[in-house]
Amino acid sequence: MTYQVINSILWCFILVIISITIFTPKLCFATKQVKIESLVMNQIDQCWRFNPEWRKHRSKLATCSVGYAGKMTNNIGKDLILYKVTDPNDNPINPKFGTLRYGASRIQGKVWITFQGDMHIRLEKPLLISSFTTIDGRGVNIHIANNACLMIFKATNVIIHGLRIHHCQPQAPGMVMGPNGKAIHLGQVDGDAIRLVTASKIWIDHNTLYDCQDGLLDVTRGSTNVTVSNNWFREQDKVMLLGHDDGYVRDKDMKVTIVYNYFGPNCHQRMPRIRHGYAHVANNLYMGWVQYAIGGSMEPSLKSESNLFIAPSSGHKEVTWRKNSNGIRDTWEFH
Ligand SMILES: *[C@@H]1O[C@H](CO)[C@@H](O)[C@H](O)[C@H]1NC(C)=O
Repeated sequence: MTYQVINSILWCFILVIISITIFTPKLCFATKQVKIESLVMNQIDQCWRFNPEWRKHRSKLATCSVGYAGKMTNNIGKDLILYKVTDPNDNPINPKFGTLRYGASRIQGKVWITFQGDMHIRLEKPLLISSFTTIDGRGVNIHIANNACLMIFKATNVIIHGLRIHHCQPQAPGMVMGPNGKAIHLGQVDGDAIRLVTASKIWIDHNTLYDCQDGLLDVTRGSTNVTVSNNWFREQDKVMLLGHDDGYVRDKDMKVTIVYNYFGPNCHQRMPRIRHGYAHVANNLYMGWVQYAIGGSMEPSLKSESNLFIAPSSGHKEVTWRKNSNGIRDTWEFH
């Protein structure tokens, strides 16, 4: 055989190995793949989407989560309140019945929020989502855009699914209905699409996040047990921050799963950028970057598994970026 033939056989072999490595869903507990109209669905989607009657069984979604958020079964059960958003308007302190804020901040206990139809919601102030709240945008086009966006502040057991959140802008301090249904004073807020502050057991799935003033997703101040799955992140400089403060050592306990997401086009950096904690980053697709894909500082741990990194045609080809802390030699683990 000529050298060229051997060479091409070798390349085929390498490609097969690479394909197997990349496309084997390591997170799968069930190996059965479900095909609908020739689509192969991941473990989360095949859990509910396979059923054409999913609209009649919306709460099934809560059992489909994977990773550190665990199963979201605290969000469903016999005392679940079903609430439908019928009014795209917003009043930050006295939300009217029918608005998103009334369902997400005012109603306490388990609430499952759906939407009457397609909606464009311009929030007057950040939306503070209460514990045990699910926002389910399946089947409709919901845009939360052009002003304030979402915040999970000292809350647990929250599902955010199927929203398009974009063009989020910074907000001046002011009064807003808190997650406990009472008006609170909220300080200055950067323009992030979704911001977690001391939040736990949070599942962010199937959202489209882009073009915000600050970042797309911040996990901060002791937030943990978070799964970020099936989201499309695009058109953003600073995409995702896990831990915002070098001095905030409580973030050592932070655990975040980032799986089945699509990054790009035009994401520059931080997919994610992590401080202190631990992130499992698996089965994501990176369509280029400008500075780096995954980075961090303050000795975090990160396991990158079965991701597909498509390097940009110009600029930095390096996938990772590690910042040394205060002249201390880079010792953090990147697996
Ligand atoms: C995070 O999840 C683990 C495992 O379920 C649990 O033991 C821990 O208490 C959770 N942490 C918080 C802050 O909720």
